[in-house]
Amino acid sequence: MYEHLTVVKHPLVQHKLTLMRDKDTPTAVFRQLLREISQLLAYEITRELEMTTRRIETPLCEMDAPVLAGKKLALVSILRAGNGLLDGVLELVPSARVGYVGLYRDEKTLQPVQYYYKVPTDLKDRLVIVLDPMLATGNSSAAAVDLLKASGANNIRFMCLLAAPEGVARMGQAHPDVPIVTAAVDECLNEHGYIVPGLGDAGDRMFGTR
Ligand code: URA
Repeated sequence: MYEHLTVVKHPLVQHKLTLMRDKDTPTAVFRQLLREISQLLAYEITRELEMTTRRIETPLCEMDAPVLAGKKLALVSILRAGNGLLDGVLELVPSARVGYVGLYRDEKTLQPVQYYYKVPTDLKDRLVIVLDPMLATGNSSAAAVDLLKASGANNIRFMCLLAAPEGVARMGQAHPDVPIVTAAVDECLNEHGYIVPGLGDAGDRMFGTR
């Protein structure tokens, strides 16, 4: 399999994911579960953030205490489902910069079509975490990473809830330098580009549309 793929097999993540897959899980619960899982995935994806120390004084003595170093990280949501991951991660990293990439999938060709792009300036040497719950064909994800690289990003990671083997392979071929963190890799894509067994349309389930 793809060497830059991390599947977070933590029991809490797997339990919550099962609840999200269940078609009878209501919208509000689905959204809350996505927020919770996003924070557990963020814990994994930020594991190697650069650190330094700061001199502080505790009530007992002075110490050199660890703090984050380097540029603030950037979170880039692939609209619209990426926003479901964004909310949770922002709660954990409130000072992160935020960008949005608007891509929709042409239902016939399954190719991404761009309609919005607004990301922080100065992406070079900043950790950029791209957020999209469903890594399906990988076409939108690869296109979003293309755009970010063209904007100067050189340290990109990709966070999703579910991945299809096809999407993982596509990203591996297009962007082997971009590590992927996910809660599960499912069996396959169906003829409509949906992940199987999956959880259906993440955006619809999150926002109660259809
Ligand atoms: N996008 C979704 O929301 N679900 C899938 O299964 C595939 C792409």
